[in-house]
Amino acid sequence: MFRQDPLNTILALASEFTPTAVRVAATLRLPDLVEAGHNTPKAMAEQTGADEQALGRVMRYLTLLGLFTEESGTYAVTEVGQVIGSDHPSTLQRWLDLEDPAREIEARFEPAIAELLTAVRTGEPVYEKVYGANFWDDLKAHPKLDKSFNDGLTRTVNRMVPEFVKIYDWASVKHVVDVGGGKGALLAPLLNTHPELRGTLFELEHVVEQARETLAPVADRCELVGGSFFEPIAAQGDVYLIANTLHNWSDADAEKIMARLVEAAGPGGRVLIVERMVDSGKDPVMASYADLLMLVLLGARERSVEDYRGLGAKVGMELTDTLRFETPGMWLLEFTVQS
Ligand SMILES: C[S@@+](CC[C@H](N)C(=O)[O-])C[C@H]1O[C@@H](n2cnc3c(N)ncnc32)[C@H](O)[C@@H]1O
Repeated sequence: MFRQDPLNTILALASEFTPTAVRVAATLRLPDLVEAGHNTPKAMAEQTGADEQALGRVMRYLTLLGLFTEESGTYAVTEVGQVIGSDHPSTLQRWLDLEDPAREIEARFEPAIAELLTAVRTGEPVYEKVYGANFWDDLKAHPKLDKSFNDGLTRTVNRMVPEFVKIYDWASVKHVVDVGGGKGALLAPLLNTHPELRGTLFELEHVVEQARETLAPVADRCELVGGSFFEPIAAQGDVYLIANTLHNWSDADAEKIMARLVEAAGPGGRVLIVERMVDSGKDPVMASYADLLMLVLLGARERSVEDYRGLGAKVGMELTDTLRFETPGMWLLEFTVQS
């Protein structure tokens, strides 16, 4: 475990080698190698084709960080190091692998993260300052980056699908409108699991077109409507779902979107918000990371249950249920529009 005196703790936290060394360990799969018995720098160098002496020096640093223990030149993996093993359920090894081809989007984030000071001073996103275009326009201009971003999103959403289709009393719903529903990654399995349920995907015009394929198997019970959630939402349902979307917007914009949901749902209608909660207790570092990422990329934020309750109250809806996913950090909040 990482336990150093205060000076060395700060040095280890602040050293720019810390994030890089952890990524080197993930890229070269050093925890996997040590677990498999290749537990000396010589053996690891043979397996990876790396330079034995340089690798040994990185292992010393990683040991100080608490990923490994060392005795007489032989290493063992700690519980911390195991988290970046390639079979760990966190899938962090893949996220940190510097040579993962799907990592393009993370690499794009890094220069923006380095501008955190500016974001802290101004409260504004710094993405445009770094790349000359805001985040969404930049993705539009770079299809490979856009694909890397969307693939990452899809992986995240797919992880929560099995729980999402069961977590709510969907039998109490006749027609769900998935607002900002992307390419239907949630709506398609939801309708598939609940044959009585009808659905509408409400999305920006160009995204609706991309969603047709995913929703084809449930096309007889599903409409696709193009539009913006900053305008009146022209789709009728008894429940309006908005998932993984409000955190992309500032409080002022989130309030505007929520007001549109209230207007569409009408008195007694329900609005379901699915989001990561920043105060969810589980994986607080990931929640805080996501929150800061929203700040630097979009001037947006992750929120707490209380933040959402407050925003809901401002636009005329009451928080009537809170359901917590097993998927770390994720919650479903049910609001009911007041009469
Ligand atoms: C992070 S994605 C979430 C997608 C989906 N709900 C999910 O959980 O997979 C946010 C979505 O908001 C959509 N979006 C952005 N601006 C929008 C607007 N003005 N009106 C409707 N949808 C919008 C984007 O196209 C994108 O698909």
